[in-house]
Formats: sequence, structure tokens, C-alpha cells
Amino acid sequence: MRLAVLVSGTGSILEAMLGGGLPVDLVGADRPCRGLGVAADAGIETVLVARCEWTMRGTGEDSVIDGHSAADHDSAAGGVSDLGRRRFDREGYSCELAAVLGGRGVDVVAMAGFGTVLDASFFEWGDGRYRGRVLNTHPSLLPAFPGWHAVRDALDAGAAESGCTVHVAIPEVDAGPVLAQRAVPVLAGDDETTLHERIKKAERELYPATIAAFLGEQRAGQERGGRM
Ligand code: GAR
Repeated sequence: MRLAVLVSGTGSILEAMLGGGLPVDLVGADRPCRGLGVAADAGIETVLVARCEWTMRGTGEDSVIDGHSAADHDSAAGGVSDLGRRRFDREGYSCELAAVLGGRGVDVVAMAGFGTVLDASFFEWGDGRYRGRVLNTHPSLLPAFPGWHAVRDALDAGAAESGCTVHVAIPEVDAGPVLAQRAVPVLAGDDETTLHERIKKAERELYPATIAAFLGEQRAGQERGGRM
């Protein structure tokens, strides 16, 4: 059973997975990012399926990209200049990414700070190959504070605690069966950086352990006669 991790950012959750001995076979990204370097340094195969190649000239209505303003996204993507004036072909991108992973024999996908929302065509690709086999970690105690600004939203709401959620991903964003959660306190004087780092510390323990348990269940299902 082959595991792929999807990243877009610093890859510190990926580092924790590797440090914990998770059998990561492939790391994919939607943009150049440090996470790809983390994988390459560990000798893991990497693949970049660049979302900027799946944009098309449009009406400008897609000026918000996966919850980020175009400016936010551009900076996260390393300076792509005009995404705000383009439409993103989400279905085309989702199909392509599934085909790239499927073509490399990937069975289970763990998103670790992946910055593109995948639509149903990803999960349904290849006769539903990734249905129920995509995991995500989110920096809040879902269903509280879904979306791209979960840490900021928790601070703005004056929450006394926040945390992280590991769940099975479905086409709806930050939804799907919850596998594990861990709370962390919000401390006086916290800003987005300090609170997010406290949450990530919890994610670096909880996510690898939850993925390992999930893989164990998948293997057991396979031995009982499943299709993997
Ligand atoms: C993690 O906090 C993860 O929960 C979050 O991105 C961070 C990745 O950190 N994911 C999301 O917000 C997805 N909605 P990293 O790049 O240091 O591994």
C-alpha cells in the first residue's frame, strides 16, 4: 500500500511524519515550496503538479482562490503575478493530480498543508480509488473554524482553546469523518504565529500517529479480502 503526502508550504508536518518513520512513498505539491525540498532531502520521490498551469483566462470572478485573496495566494505561490484575473480549472486539476498519483500506484493520500481544494473528480478518479482514502489535518477543532484562516478566526472569536483535527477528506472543505482531535490552549498575548505553532506541535504528534493507525486498518482490510 503506497502513501503520498501533499504539501504547499514549509512541510514541517511532513518532517514530523518522516521523523516518526511513516512509510511515505511520494510527496506531491501544487507549487514550488520548502516541503518538496524536505522530501527530496529524505530521498523521497517528488512530483509538482502546478496549479498555475490549470488556470484559464476568465471573467475575473475567481478573484478569491481557495479562500485566499489573489494577493495571498500569489505570495504563497511565490509570486505568480496574475492569478487574480484567471479562473482555476479545479476539475481538470483534480483529475490530473489523481491520475499522476494513481499512475504511481498511490493508494492513500495525506494532505499536510496542501493549498488547493480538490473537487469530487479527485476522489472518484479510477472508479473511486481515493474515496475514503484521503486524510487531512486542519488547525482547529472542527466543526469550529473551517476554512483557510482557522487560526486567525479562533483568535478573533476570543476562543479559550483551539487545536487540530485529523479527518477523512471529502469534496466538501474541512468536512468528513473525524479520526482524532487534540485541544491546545489559547494564551494571553497569542498572535496567529504563536498559536499556529502551538497547534502545529500537536499536529506533528497526532497526524503521524493517526495516519499510521489508518494505514494499519487499510492493510487489515486488504488482508480480509479488500481490493488493495
Ligand atoms: C498545518 O497547520 C495544517 O493544519 C494547515 O497547514 C499547516 C501546514 O504546516 N493546513 C490547513 O490549514 C489546510 N486547511 P507546514 O507547512 O508547516 O507543514
